[in-house]
Formats: sequence, C-alpha cells, structure tokens
Amino acid sequence: MKNGVREVLAEVTIPQVKIPAHPVKRVLPAAETEALKERIKTMLQEKNAALVAHYYTEGVLQDLAEETGGCVADSLEMARFGTQHPAETLVVAGVRFMGETSKILNIEKRVLMPDLAATCSLDENCPIDLFSDFCDQHPDHTVVVYANTSAEVKARSHWVVTSGIALPVIKHLADKGEKILWGPDRHLGRYVQQQTGIEMILWPGSCVVHEEFKADALRTMRSLHPKAAVLVHPESPQEVVDQADVVGSTTALIQAVQNMANKEFIVATDAGIFNKMRQLSPDKVLLSAPTGGDGATCESCARCPWMEMNSLEKLAHVLETGEGEIQVAPGLAAQAKIPIERMLAFAETLKK
Ligand code: 13P
Ligand code: SF4
Repeated sequence: MKNGVREVLAEVTIPQVKIPAHPVKRVLPAAETEALKERIKTMLQEKNAALVAHYYTEGVLQDLAEETGGCVADSLEMARFGTQHPAETLVVAGVRFMGETSKILNIEKRVLMPDLAATCSLDENCPIDLFSDFCDQHPDHTVVVYANTSAEVKARSHWVVTSGIALPVIKHLADKGEKILWGPDRHLGRYVQQQTGIEMILWPGSCVVHEEFKADALRTMRSLHPKAAVLVHPESPQEVVDQADVVGSTTALIQAVQNMANKEFIVATDAGIFNKMRQLSPDKVLLSAPTGGDGATCESCARCPWMEMNSLEKLAHVLETGEGEIQVAPGLAAQAKIPIERMLAFAETLKK
C-alpha cells in the first residue's frame, strides 16, 4: 500500500522467459565499420528506406539512423515517425513489438528488422490466450496495454500506451471513472496507479533488465554521490522508483540530463541511453545505477539482451536480402491499429 493505493496483481501464472546470452559481437576494424556504414547508406537510398532506431541500440546504429534522415527515439516517437515519413521501407532497429507497431500503422510499407528474434520479456510475459481469458473475466474494465506487447494483445485492448504517455492516458481514464485492467508491466502499472489513485488490476509481467536495479546498492551509491540526480525508468521496482528525482520514459530521462542543473546523474535504465545523453550533454557525468550486489546474476548489466541483437552487419544483411520482414495479417493489423491510433490522437491533444 502506497499513497493509499493497494496493488492488485492478476492471479495468473505467466510463462517463464528464457533470457538469451548477450551476443558476442565481433569488433570491426574502423575501416570495415566505415565501409559497412557507407554500404548501408547507399542501400537505404536505393531502396527508399528509413532507419528508425531505439535509444537502447548500439550507438553506431543510433547515429546512422540520424545521419541518414531516419530517427532515434523512444517507442512512442518511433511509432509516430513511420507514419509521417514517405519512405516505402522502414527498417526498425529495436525489438519486435516496435517493428510490429510500425507495420500495424503502415500496412502498405515494408518493415524490416535486423533480427526478428529480438523480443521483449514483457511481450513474452503476456501470451494472448491467457490475457484474453483474463480480460473476458473482467468485462467492466477498460483494457490498457503497454506498447511492449504482441499485435494480438494490442488488438484485444481498448488503449495502447508507451511509458511516455501512460500517465496522462490513465489520468484521463480516471477522470471518466473507469476501472482499468493493465498489462503487462506491473511496475509501470503500479507507478501510474499510485500517481492517479485509480482502481487497476495489474498483469504480473516485468522487464528483465529494469528488474535488476538494486535499491540497497542505489542508496549506497547516492550516499557516495550526494549531488547526483537519480533518473529512473518506470519499469523499475518500487524501491528504486522511490529514490528517483525523475521517473520517465527514455526521452524524459534524456531531457532531464539536459535541463537539470546537476552535474552528476545516476541513471536506472538500459545503458544504451548514454549515447544520446552524452551527445546532448557532454559536460555531465553519467553513472549507471547499480545492478550488482545481492541477487545479481550474470545477466545483470543494464543491457537488454534483445536490443543487443541489432548490429550493423545484420542491418546490412536484411537490406541486401529483404530477409527480416515483419508480417502482420491485415485483419489483425486493422484491429490492433485502433488502440494505437487512439494513443497517437491523444498525444496530439496533449501537444495542443
Ligand atoms: P521507452 O518507450 O521509454 O523508450 O521504453 C521502451 C522500453 O522498452 C523500455 O524498456
Ligand atoms: Fe523489453 Fe526490458 Fe528490453 Fe525494454 S529493456 S525491450 S522492456 S526487455
């Protein structure tokens, strides 16, 4: 119980997720990297393709996306970008739900991904049959799902949200007196519930990367860096969120480094985000929040093993061969598009 809010978790047994080993990457000599980048640039042009990358992918991919007129962004902006860009092909460097969202919103475009095996533990935690049965048992609840889900789960929902927009959407629904069935990230769900006080049932999924941030070790780190601001992605556990100066999406955390007067920051999210933070705020000191200590495993490194599956070599390969194409059946896409477009339309009203 926090802020008078009781956490209600759905009583379901979710599948165990098999976490892949971090890929061992061949370090390319600088000349080879440059040659590969040039080949990719040429192919992007020839194939009328745009590269859309997430902030957690390797810096070289993020930079290439920007250099070629694509974008590097959070998952909300990645979804929006594809709808506004004239390219016939979108190449999504990220995880599968991001590619699927692009395809759902742009059914006429070809959407490629460097590695179709790049999934997300939240997506895996929420199989459609289990989730749909649970929704059927709560017909009086509005179903709100995080973007980190399959096309089928999106199609079963009333709203799709990303971390960048979850809070205003849930506030909006709270004002209308709605009861929420939220999936799949229990931590983001609990965070928005505590901020709004709305009645919510939370699917018990979680992100294997953010689960690893350790609250006790963070307290110790803060005592050693008393002037550092603590930035936390809301997929993190409660006791980590409780220590945050800023809780927000990847974009919100990058902006916090730019806008806050602090010189030092402790950052609880995937370390891929440091690429953009360093570019925009070269004078700031950035520290990764601790993932070691009690309960740490060899997976605890603040790097998403699925985001790491993206590489320059795989990107060149899918552009060359056309492999790695995302397929979503048109009927399913049409159904899944409704709650995603609801989110995008709501985002527009917030801008105004
Ligand atoms: P953002 O929408 O904040 O970029 O987060 C996506 C994600 O997968 C975080 O783990
Ligand atoms: Fe999914 Fe977590 Fe990876 Fe984000 S960091 S893509 S939530 S597993």
